[in-house]
Order: sequence, then structure tokens, then C-alpha cells
Amino acid sequence: MPISAETDVILFTSCKGGVGKSTVCANLAMAMAALGKKILLIDCDFGNRCLDIIMGLADDAVYDIGDVIMERIPPEEAIIKDRRNPGINFIAAPYNFSSRISKPAFQRVVKAYADTGNYDYIFIDTPGGIGEPLDFAASVADTAYIIVSPTRAAIRAAERTGIYLAQKGVRRERLIINQFAGRSIKKAKEEVISIIDETAIKLIGVVPYDVELIRAGNAGKLIDEILSNNITHAFENIAYRTMGQTRPLFCNIKKLKKLR
Ligand SMILES: Nc1ncnc2c1ncn2[C@@H]1O[C@H](COP(=O)(O)OP(=O)(O)OP(=O)(O)O)[C@@H](O)[C@H]1O
Ligand SMILES: [Mg+2]
Repeated sequence: MPISAETDVILFTSCKGGVGKSTVCANLAMAMAALGKKILLIDCDFGNRCLDIIMGLADDAVYDIGDVIMERIPPEEAIIKDRRNPGINFIAAPYNFSSRISKPAFQRVVKAYADTGNYDYIFIDTPGGIGEPLDFAASVADTAYIIVSPTRAAIRAAERTGIYLAQKGVRRERLIINQFAGRSIKKAKEEVISIIDETAIKLIGVVPYDVELIRAGNAGKLIDEILSNNITHAFENIAYRTMGQTRPLFCNIKKLKKLR
């Protein structure tokens, strides 16, 4: 059951670490905010947060979602308003995973945020692997964006994640192929089809490999400040497709870079 009719809740996951879940979550949020959408990002990487760094909001994160769940502060106090785009709102993850963060309490808090009517989308970033944070996120999400990099291990992990989330009742799963590199667009399309076949998950988008994205992640910069047209267009394409608009997969994407 969706927790809200107005707010779409999307979780970003893979049971493999380091495939780009947080990078994709942060930059897609910025791409959607640039198109006028209002997004609340919740970092659920309890105990190992890093979305605040990628977002460039580490110094602003005084409170976290754990403080709200444990009723130490009112829900609005945990929200950091992004200075670059007012459509972006962010809540950090707690440094430690407390057993007092229960699934019903998490559900109640996410529903309260959705019920404010302030957000078109709630994005939830989850840790690599299967465990409680992912289960919590799955219990409130309408959609799971499963991130996969084009390696055999990540593809197998994506397939397993898809099966796991379907068992948890997530109704809609979509694949984002990240860190895609070193092929002509024609060859890339062939590989995309084989990854869809292997994971048995419908595709929503492809993000090329680009060192600019690594530099940006370290500097807390998002696509509005990344000087790579390919990256900007890739996230814009996924943003349109997330909003239900038709958009060719590689729209405006030029040659893919070689891995260094
Ligand atoms: N498209 C890309 N091109 C190049 N580097 C990328 C791309 N996407 C992500 N990265 C880099 O890969 C690394 C891992 O990314 P990220 O932290 O987003 O992954 P994650 O799946 O959230 O990891 P974790 O499982 O630890 O939460 C980072 O250094 C990031 O900059
Ligand atoms: Mg992460």
C-alpha cells in the first residue's frame, strides 16, 4: 500500500556496496529539483552515512532521522534546506544504528513527512547489503531503484536484490545501470539488453562512468556544478523517465568514456 497518494517514495539500493547508490540518489534529486520537483532525501545508511558529504551538506547536518524517530526533535527540525535549489530537502542518517529505531516508528515518521504535502518525492538512500535499514525503506517505498554497475558481481547482486524486494512487497522495481564505460553507443545498447536479461528488472536509465562524478562527490558538488554534459544529460533523462515522460535512454549522451 502506498503511504501517500501525493508523494512517491523511491528507495535506492543494491545488496552490493559501492555501485553508486548514494551518488545516483543525490544527483537524480538535483536533476528533478531543476525540473521543479520538490524532493525530500532521507539517508538510511545508518551507522555509515555519506550522503551528506556527496550532497555538500555535511557541515549543516546537526540532527538526523534517528533524532526524529526517537522523538528528540520535531520532524521539521531534522530537515536541511539546500542552498542551491529550494526543491531539495535533506535528512542525515544517524552515526550509529540504535535498536530504538524500529520499523513502525520509521514508517510513522516517513508517513508524517509525506502527509505534509510538501514533497513530490521522498528518496531513501540505503546501505549496501540486505538488513534492517533496507527492510524499513522497503516497507514505505512504492518503487525501488536498483543500482547496478556493469560487473558480473554487481549484476548478480542486482538480480538478488530484485527478488528480495519483491518478497518484501515492493511493487515496482527499476534498474539504473551506473558507471557505464568504454563502448560505442551501439555496443552499449547491446550490453544494456544483456544486463536487463540477466537481472530480469525493467530499466529506467543509464549513467556513464565519469571521473568528474568522483571529484564532485568528494567536493560535495552535484550535477548543477559538474562540467560534464554526458552526466548532466544522463540524470536529466532519468528525471524525465521518473516523472513518467518518454525520453530515449541515451538522449543527448555522446561518446562514452574509457575506464582509467
Ligand atoms: N557514474 C560514475 N562514474 C564514476 N564514478 C562513480 C560513478 N558513480 C559513482 N561513482 C563513484 O563510485 C564510488 C562509490 O559511489 P557511492 O558512494 O555513491 O556508492 P554506494 O553504492 O552508495 O556505496 P555504499 O555501498 O558504500 O553506500 C564513489 O567514489 C563515487 O564517486
Ligand atoms: Mg552509499
